[in-house]
Amino acid sequence: MKTLVAFYSKNGHTRIIGEKLVKLFKADSEEISDLKDRSDIFTWAKSAFNEELKTPTKIALSKKNSQNYDLIIVGTPIWDGITPAVKAYLSQNKFKNVAFFATFGAAAEDAFYDMEQLAKKKPLSVLEVQDMQISRKEDEKRIREFEKEIMGKMK
Ligand SMILES: Cc1cc2nc3c(=O)[nH]c(=O)nc-3n(C[C@H](O)[C@H](O)[C@H](O)COP(=O)(O)O)c2cc1C
Repeated sequence: MKTLVAFYSKNGHTRIIGEKLVKLFKADSEEISDLKDRSDIFTWAKSAFNEELKTPTKIALSKKNSQNYDLIIVGTPIWDGITPAVKAYLSQNKFKNVAFFATFGAAAEDAFYDMEQLAKKKPLSVLEVQDMQISRKEDEKRIREFEKEIMGKMK
């Protein structure tokens, strides 16, 4: 099974989970690159509910062709919803099978519903990881459950 893990990460949390998934699934990896300079976005407290976060963005051309993969696992931080870069990635690519993951400070809210609408595919599984769970190393068990559900459905 050819798998790609595609994610956007500004502060590293989503990258940590993405890299663990790459190892577990023996997958290729694609870090989604937002062409808009986001260096002014530091913390949730400072930047949340900024209209910029709702404005569509342009992303760098994908290095990996989504059509070549049986499964694409897409990950996003939550920025008052899913990130503009991941919105762009989901709307611009075609998917055979998808699974989603999100990292967040408080709650993923309806992120996975929005991702499903944009990908036009129901996810095989979804994984929610709160930042605190990464620092407490509580993410591993959830990641294994996520993998188990996906593998069960890909058979
Ligand atoms: C601009 C901004 C907005 C955020 N908005 C939310 C939010 O609405 N809800 C939430 O639970 N966490 C929110 N967070 C926290 C991030 O979702 C969380 O820290 C996430 O793991 C960041 O991923 P990253 O480290 O890969 O960039 C926000 C963070 C930033 C920087």
